[in-house]
Amino acid sequence: MTSQDIRQKFLDFFKDKGHQIVPSAPIVLKDDPTLMFSNSGMTQFKDFFLGYKEPTSLRVADTQKCLRVSGKHNDLDDVGRDTYHHTMFEMLGNWSFGDYFKKEAIAWAWELLTEVYKIPKEDLYVTIFEGDASENLQRDEDAYNYWKEHIAEDRIINGNKKDNFWEMGDQGPCGPCSEIHVDIRPASEKAKISGKELVNKDHPQVVEVWNLVFMEFLRKADKTLEKLPKQNVDTGMGFERLCMALQGKASNYDTDVFTPLIAKVEEISGKKYTGVLEDEKDIAIRVVVDHIRAVAYAIADGQLPSNGGAGYVIRRILRRAISYSYRFLGMNEAFLYQLVAILKEQMGSFFPEIVKQERLVTEVIKEEENSFLKTIEHGLVRLDAVIQQTIKDQQKNLPGDQVFELYDTFGFPADLSRIIAEEKGLGIDEQGFEEEMNKQKARSKKSSASKTYDWVILEEKPERFVGYDQLVSEVKITRYRKIENKDGVFYQIVLDETPFYAEGGGQVGDKGFLISGEEKVEILDTKKENNLNISLVAELPQEINATFTAEVDVVSRKSSQANHSATHLLHEALRAVLGAHVEQKGSYVGPDYLRFDFSHFSKMTDEELAQVEQQVNAKIRENIALQEFRNIPIQEALDKGAMALFGEKYGDNVRMIQFASSRELCGGTHVKSTGEIGLFKITSEASAAAGIRRIEAITGAKAKEYFEGMEASYLELAHLLKSKDVLKSVQKLLEENHTLKSEIEALKAEKAKQESAQWKEEYVQKGDKKLLVKKTSMDAAVIKDIVFGLKKEVAQSVTVILSNAGGKPMITVGVSDDLTAQYQAGNIVKSLVKEIKGGGGGAPAFATAGGKDLDGLEKAFNLAEEL
Ligand code: ALA
Repeated sequence: MTSQDIRQKFLDFFKDKGHQIVPSAPIVLKDDPTLMFSNSGMTQFKDFFLGYKEPTSLRVADTQKCLRVSGKHNDLDDVGRDTYHHTMFEMLGNWSFGDYFKKEAIAWAWELLTEVYKIPKEDLYVTIFEGDASENLQRDEDAYNYWKEHIAEDRIINGNKKDNFWEMGDQGPCGPCSEIHVDIRPASEKAKISGKELVNKDHPQVVEVWNLVFMEFLRKADKTLEKLPKQNVDTGMGFERLCMALQGKASNYDTDVFTPLIAKVEEISGKKYTGVLEDEKDIAIRVVVDHIRAVAYAIADGQLPSNGGAGYVIRRILRRAISYSYRFLGMNEAFLYQLVAILKEQMGSFFPEIVKQERLVTEVIKEEENSFLKTIEHGLVRLDAVIQQTIKDQQKNLPGDQVFELYDTFGFPADLSRIIAEEKGLGIDEQGFEEEMNKQKARSKKSSASKTYDWVILEEKPERFVGYDQLVSEVKITRYRKIENKDGVFYQIVLDETPFYAEGGGQVGDKGFLISGEEKVEILDTKKENNLNISLVAELPQEINATFTAEVDVVSRKSSQANHSATHLLHEALRAVLGAHVEQKGSYVGPDYLRFDFSHFSKMTDEELAQVEQQVNAKIRENIALQEFRNIPIQEALDKGAMALFGEKYGDNVRMIQFASSRELCGGTHVKSTGEIGLFKITSEASAAAGIRRIEAITGAKAKEYFEGMEASYLELAHLLKSKDVLKSVQKLLEENHTLKSEIEALKAEKAKQESAQWKEEYVQKGDKKLLVKKTSMDAAVIKDIVFGLKKEVAQSVTVILSNAGGKPMITVGVSDDLTAQYQAGNIVKSLVKEIKGGGGGAPAFATAGGKDLDGLEKAFNLAEEL
């Protein structure tokens, strides 16, 4: 079975069992402070488990792109070193949201593996949760009894909390789980030692393929467990491992998920993959073909490599791949980007984002590769200096703090330092390095330290956002919690009917007030977390249960929404002027200005910018009324031509914002008609990253202020020029300036000629040679011309000019060609320039040097005579 068939069979199987098949959620998460990436199939369904949101179907199945490179689930260091861990992998999963439970989950998993995929039953083992006294949890007898119906009891193994109690993160939904392990060793191996002995022992061919989690609990911030409102099922099967089992391979990398990528790496690097576990070249190839998938999909889902947060994790994965291929495949030129085309061929039919984003993904990876290879090259030079010093100091180890500095400040991988040091017979002071690393970790932990307490629930009531229609409403606080971060102590509150827009879609969150009687509490910001709008306050109101009047800061909100609507018009205009490859890659929409990042591969011309501005302003003048479709099926919106963003997770029903032909899926707030925007002005266009341009623009009052500022400058200019036609006056000034400059040049040349004639008279005869040592205030350029002339005209001569034009001490020396065998201008300058604290030199016949110490000129003068 090809990997494509294996995937399809899974989805078909669960479709037959009444499951709705849904697309993979983006790999990069938004609005979830507890997690950066989808680390399992259930991530996108978290709200259903927590009861924040109702699912449209109680049974769902999919394949989810997952990334386990940070937080609780982090496999990064194992990747490449073994044959079955990955950064990005696909997780096949089926879910029940309070519908079926253990019995069906177990029966169907068994049926699919043994009857559809036809895995021999004697190759399978299962584990169940043995209970945990510290958590007050019993052994999972139900799971045991259901398994007994399918599999011999001696193949059901007890597992502890570490292996058989699955948790999404430090907080969140969790529950006991039952894993299915497959033994794919050859018969001879099986005869020697039973697979049962090898379950959960990190054996590469006795591996867990499927985890069935019975989600019943919520892990709270205070670490206690709380029963969830419903009993749910969350399963996850490792797609690549399943392919290994079904394709009769001993390694995930030998399946058709990876072989085309490996073939391409072999072709480019000229190195052959032999599949050996310990072989450094083979490790490097596994690292490369694994990491490229993680990086390419993250970028396709809208996460560019960057210096912080999720972007930094992606950058580090890519750098790990570059570093391995540099070290072990001898690749010192960018090449990883060439693998994107293979990924597209291989996975594009199932994950279309890689097809649409191919060019951007390729460009971004190439640019990152080139820049990191440069970093490596610069690092090598620095490292060499450290090595030389270590040898000179007769030490065996490179100082740990210097290796750390190379890594931390210059981005040079420590592994690389280690290897290069080893080649020179040196080591690294590992302890010192470790200490620096720990210090740095402590520093960054301190700066990002924050603590979030559990919610205090005042009233179990779903929250309703009313801020599309009203900016004031009567509200009650339904829950609150305390948070602590580097800025102090704050409280987050949730309201029953909130008018406050939560930051999202680039638009900043609302500020405002809660008012009750005498009391007025300021809302500092509003953000979205999972599915809740959460407002931030510095202090809780005295009467927490009171009814408040919630008021949005109207001025700020109205400016933000004008900028938001303008962003939509800008997006449309860019596509009209530049082409349909333009796609939104990020935005900021605040009350002050808007910023819009989009894919485009060259700098915009002035003409293109003018066209875009014109189109947006024309739409503003048309005063197009907003058409808001608050809740339409996503397919209907897409059929109408609505723009959707890559990497954004949309529900079955969406909100569509339309201004005539501009249609976007959007949750933001907007003007009622485009005339409210007033005026649109682009203030800058620049590169934001490889393949991404950034426009900043202003609207309304800000744009008016901008033009008023321009007008004021213009009027001032007219006043200064005493002219009504500023353009003409400036042109005239420039012409005059040009004429004057030429006249000055001519005068200077004339003066130089005169000076030269006079200096010629001032040479002092020294035996058969002539010497001139002279101080002057003339321009360096003029001196140069004169000295050049004199050294030709005056035979057997040395000329030393000390000047101080513009307060800058300078020494110029000329030696006639017939004397350069005896006296070199460069050497003379070198001896003299020390006196004026400077440096410089030159050729035997002519040299100049500048310095910093004007007072030294006198000494230089005397020394020159002596010399
Ligand atoms: N969420 C479970 C896992 O990731 C299925 O293993």
